[in-house]
Amino acid sequence: MVETIRKSTREEREKWIKEAKYNLFRLKSEYVFIDLLTDSGTGAMSDRQWAEMMVGDESYAGASSYYKMQSAIQDITGFEYFLPTHQGRAAENVLFSVLVKEGNIIPGNSHFDTTKGHIEFRKAFAVDCTINEAFDTTILHPFKGNVDLAKLEEVLKSHNDQVPFIIMTLTNNSAGGQPVSMENLRAIRKIADKYGKLVVIDAARFAENAYFVKVRETGYEHKSIREIVLETFSYADIMVMSSKKDAIVNMGGFIAMRDKELHSKASVFEIMFEGYITYGGLSGRDMNAIAQGLYEGTSFDFLESRIKQVEYLGHLLTDFGIPVQQPIGGHAVFVDAKRFLPNLPKEKFLAQTLAIELYLEAGVRGVEIGALLADRDPVTRENRYPTLELLRLTIPRRVYTNNHMDVVAVALKNVFDRRHTIKQGLKIIAEAHIMRHFTVELDLA
Ligand code: F0G
Repeated sequence: MVETIRKSTREEREKWIKEAKYNLFRLKSEYVFIDLLTDSGTGAMSDRQWAEMMVGDESYAGASSYYKMQSAIQDITGFEYFLPTHQGRAAENVLFSVLVKEGNIIPGNSHFDTTKGHIEFRKAFAVDCTINEAFDTTILHPFKGNVDLAKLEEVLKSHNDQVPFIIMTLTNNSAGGQPVSMENLRAIRKIADKYGKLVVIDAARFAENAYFVKVRETGYEHKSIREIVLETFSYADIMVMSSKKDAIVNMGGFIAMRDKELHSKASVFEIMFEGYITYGGLSGRDMNAIAQGLYEGTSFDFLESRIKQVEYLGHLLTDFGIPVQQPIGGHAVFVDAKRFLPNLPKEKFLAQTLAIELYLEAGVRGVEIGALLADRDPVTRENRYPTLELLRLTIPRRVYTNNHMDVVAVALKNVFDRRHTIKQGLKIIAEAHIMRHFTVELDLA
């Protein structure tokens, strides 16, 4: 699908971003030239996916589209049972309604914000056990998404009774689209078995993770993506999936699991929150497109061209001397805002400031992965300032050309060249109690 994009002037953008309270989520998309806000639901579907849309079965119960999606999930992931949901966070909501109780502690590798939101909403705690290397953008570690096994075991030793499961996010989005190695997953399974815990995989970008395992991990170079994916999920009991990423659809998600009893328990919440168990918030045509997208998203040739495009942008920026998370991630380039704007204090939301500067420069919309996203501590209500302040330039699948990447790179270089003149940050005017970054209102500080 080809869509029109629109150019604008700097004066127009200054007016629009002020009206949007310096929050890029509040901008009309028509005010954006190149949209790198997210890779979620923004990909272009293929001819075959559109063909599948035409033959969706819209029966309320037992639709053939449900069985098509089930067959694709069983084939690709090895999980026997599944529940469709309207997107990833809905899958989290249904699953956590069964598994998460007040006071629980859930260790993992940098939980995504909605995952953390659903945990904290239930008065439970997310503990980030990601390896320290992930928090230094200059270190070239092949699997910066990994969990530090010692940190994980420490949580299990000291809080064993409060831990319902370990959650592994593939790829580790918040740390920079960084992959998790098979070796790490295998070790986590061992630890989980030792302590009698479930392993959940947040599989939003499982296929991109498999690509990195194939090209970076010894012993996997001759395995196919599908073989690597099957092994990946063999170490988990449950997966939650936002199909808007690696299944290349505009909307959709699911939960998949091995345990029939868990499926029955989750079905109760599924029916309350999402819909009947054979559609769960999705049209038949959406389930067809997901089934087809799961196959396309796990094709090596597709993954190679997609990840190499992200790398292309990353290398352009590196060549300009712009500090980015190394190595370049799977779905996005993460610009290190602290090193980009070293003189701006963290209290002035420097990654958001950089995101606004890039928008003003060329109408390019990225997204802040920093203090705004990190939210307030649910107990003390103090701002949480993460180690890394990042500007994520997220590349939609099968949408932009490398020509667009050139425009983005030069725009950011222009900002980089005048970085010493950027002295004014931002302050919060109004914010929501939880997941504030989506709706926060800011002003110049
Ligand atoms: N888990 C991960 C790792 C994600 O990146 C996302 C969404 C979700 C879960 C939630 O899925 O949006 O379908 O409800 N990430 C998008 C992003 C929004 O921009 O990274 P959802």
